[in-house]
Amino acid sequence: MRLNGKVALITGAARGQGECEAKLFSAEGATVVVADVLSTLGEKVAQDISSGGGKATFVKLDVSSEKDWVLAIQHTLDKFKALNVLVNNASIYRTTTIENTSMEEWDDVISTNARGAFLGTKYVIPAMRKANGGSIINICSTTGIVGSSRGGAYGASKAAVRILTKHAAIQHASEGIRVNSISPGSIDTEMIAENIGTPQGRAASIKRIPAGRIGTAEDVAYGALFLASDESSFITGSDLLIDGGMTAQ
Ligand SMILES: NC(=O)c1ccc[n+]([C@@H]2O[C@H](COP(=O)([O-])OP(=O)(O)OC[C@H]3O[C@@H](n4cnc5c(N)ncnc54)[C@H](O)[C@@H]3O)[C@@H](O)[C@H]2O)c1
Repeated sequence: MRLNGKVALITGAARGQGECEAKLFSAEGATVVVADVLSTLGEKVAQDISSGGGKATFVKLDVSSEKDWVLAIQHTLDKFKALNVLVNNASIYRTTTIENTSMEEWDDVISTNARGAFLGTKYVIPAMRKANGGSIINICSTTGIVGSSRGGAYGASKAAVRILTKHAAIQHASEGIRVNSISPGSIDTEMIAENIGTPQGRAASIKRIPAGRIGTAEDVAYGALFLASDESSFITGSDLLIDGGMTAQ
């Protein structure tokens, strides 16, 4: 029960890594707020947790909307009286090359991924201050650290969140609010189905990973669990690479 007594809000928790984190955090004693734009799937994740004996609720949240954030945090505080952990996990992925990226696509990616994490951090701080501390975990990506032959907007959005993490960590360390990021490599979820959906695509991805496999949602969720728990109480402003060694070479 590594998260006993904590309330955690996880964005993008209707599926993929966010769903896995919601279920793992609940199994470790947390009360979980499952937040996403996908209501049917999100409600089901909360229902699965509740029917397994955990405590969870779903809240519809578009992370790019300031109004949605204010309402989601207020709803959490009304229902559970505190908010101790925020995982800024929601994101959209695009692989368009820079030359072919439209203004609209650039703005979509930046406003979901970077503005979303900024708004979440901004609006959760007062609640965490009231609880005498908390842990914010921003899910970034190795594409925010190294370049690639495709994409551009996505990597730029993740690099923005990676450095936002360090600024927030410094601004709130003295209040007991820790802010860390995780940079996953290739993780087997719907997000990268276009990359690993064919045997050739999967093989090409694995070739770049020293560990010799694609990561799983659990690989990332266990990192998030550590950063959410008091076991990491002296860790703030750090970035945890979970990439099978891809960026070590
Ligand atoms: N899968 C990978 O290979 C990989 C690699 C590096 C980083 N990541 C990051 O990991 C995180 C989780 O991704 P995943 O692999 O589980 O992908 P996923 O596509 O399965 O999940 C993303 C979730 O975010 C939600 N979402 C999208 N836009 C939203 C919005 N505006 N408001 C609220 N929710 C929204 C989606 O509905 C979905 O439930 C993301 O931040 C992603 O960028 C993934």
